[in-house]
Amino acid sequence: MVHRRKFIQVSAWGSLGLFFNKQAVGSNINEALKGQPVVISTWDAGLEANKAAWEILGKGGRALDAVEKGVMVTEASRNCCVGLGANPDRDGFVTLDACIMDEFSNCGSVAFLERIKHPVSVARKVMEKTPHVMLVGAGAQQFALAEGFPLEEQKLSPEAEASYQEWLLKSEYRPPVINVENKGHGPFAPARLSNGEWNHDTIGMVAMDTKGNLSGSCTTSGAGFKMRGRVGDSPIIGAGLFVDNEVGACTATGQGEDVIRVAGSHSVVELMRQGLPPEAACKKVIERIVKIKKEKAKNIQVGFLALNKKGIAGAYAIHPGFKYALKNGQQEILMEAKSYFAE
Ligand code: GLY
Repeated sequence: MVHRRKFIQVSAWGSLGLFFNKQAVGSNINEALKGQPVVISTWDAGLEANKAAWEILGKGGRALDAVEKGVMVTEASRNCCVGLGANPDRDGFVTLDACIMDEFSNCGSVAFLERIKHPVSVARKVMEKTPHVMLVGAGAQQFALAEGFPLEEQKLSPEAEASYQEWLLKSEYRPPVINVENKGHGPFAPARLSNGEWNHDTIGMVAMDTKGNLSGSCTTSGAGFKMRGRVGDSPIIGAGLFVDNEVGACTATGQGEDVIRVAGSHSVVELMRQGLPPEAACKKVIERIVKIKKEKAKNIQVGFLALNKKGIAGAYAIHPGFKYALKNGQQEILMEAKSYFAE
């Protein structure tokens, strides 16, 4: 088994005039920058999302506001797996899942939500305006409308329509199997964005603000062509996202069923509480999933991305290819996580 972590892109600038070369970034980037505000998020789409989050963090704003605004960028973009432009379920409807959690362990979540552009913002309203944590389906939509969110047209994006028509040719009613080499339109398949980047699956984001407070968000359309009513890990506090302001925060991406069965993000945070660095904590939970799944682990991808209270980030995935974006006052980078299986 060979592990690797790849540096993908560095942009360094600003008043400190810092430049991080490949080796510095690959080895101890997070050590050098610990204690500063920072935002991390999953996949290539995280680069743009982090920019929006930084508009808040960079001005001394609250991490909670940053993680909401950040992932709203991805929700509004047209891609395979987040927001209303994403692939539909097998009945042709886009259904969205999202959650958010703050430094006080307040949390809110929506699942199986239709025709609302920003599920993460509805999740925040659930957190702030209801005595509940989670609303689903018609009830979540009813709440969103009562809160003034517009009801969007029920129409697939051209890309999603094309993917759906292609899927209908076989209409294979099976749980998704992730082929990490697949660049097509399958469940969880990466999709090409207008800027040429590949976007993939869920966006999960965690941030630490100038006060050292942590918050996180997670939003997705889930597995493409899923069974109607299927909900993955992303809206489930403790699975797709968990924040403990004394310890750290974690978010997950990939096959939600396998994140849920190990209470993934919560497990990573608990391992950090026991003293493990973020990457090691993510690795332990990935190993737990691989152990449970045995041979089937070869066909699924799960990635965890964590940030501890010192501002140190770490990630780990089952397969190579899981990228995460990091932004702080000095730099904006895309990293590839180490993984259980070698390429
Ligand atoms: N991680 C996204 C999902 O399983 O729905």
